[in-house]
Amino acid sequence: MDEPAPRGPSDGGIDGLEIREATIADLAAVARVDAAAGRPTHVEGLRAAVLDPDRLVVVARAGDVVVGWAKTHLFGRSDGVAPAGHYLGGVTVHPAWRRRGVGTALTAVRLDWLGPVTDRVHYTVNARNTASIALHRRWGFQEVARAPSFHRVRFAGGVGLLLTSRTSARHVDDAGRTPVPGG
Ligand SMILES: CC(C)(COP(=O)(O)OP(=O)(O)OC[C@H]1O[C@@H](n2cnc3c(N)ncnc32)[C@H](O)[C@@H]1OP(=O)(O)O)[C@@H](O)C(=O)NCCC(=O)NCCS
Repeated sequence: MDEPAPRGPSDGGIDGLEIREATIADLAAVARVDAAAGRPTHVEGLRAAVLDPDRLVVVARAGDVVVGWAKTHLFGRSDGVAPAGHYLGGVTVHPAWRRRGVGTALTAVRLDWLGPVTDRVHYTVNARNTASIALHRRWGFQEVARAPSFHRVRFAGGVGLLLTSRTSARHVDDAGRTPVPGG
């Protein structure tokens, strides 16, 4: 099955949701999720991320279907106020599978992976992206700057946020700590 069956927000969690590290074989399915979400896929950049041991790319699967994906990014240099270091590098969930915990599970897995690697994790987001900002709130991300761009990513509408969460101070509620089936 290539296309997820639409599900409503009232359907609750997803039985058997599996989060696992992406492989090159997942890239076509990732591109399908992006296309459904109206977001571009940078295939070569993503291929490099999958092969890079300093970054994590993960996919969320419901049965045979990839319903979302996410990655981390490691910036070797600072860019103005945006420091070098590990960033949550983007998360996308197929529109038919949203509000069922997939974005939360993809973020929890990345933060667990980064925990032993770094004492702080950064995240940039368009100031208009209320869904993403709400999704990340449970991990205690604090806004440290606002700017039209960070690390050469420009934000539609002109304002992006840079947020940071310290591993030692990170508050994770029960939802964030729920073990991911198969993850
Ligand atoms: C942001 C996104 C990844 C969320 O994925 P998701 O699987 O729907 O997220 P979850 O089901 O885990 O939601 C967790 C919490 O985030 C918040 N949230 C998620 N979507 C929201 C929305 N549309 N509006 C407001 N809050 C939202 C809620 O607090 C939600 O908890 P609740 O459902 O109990 O109210 C998804 O909307 C998406 O792919 N958006 C397009 C891509 C994008 O903007 N990515 C982020 C770039 S930084």
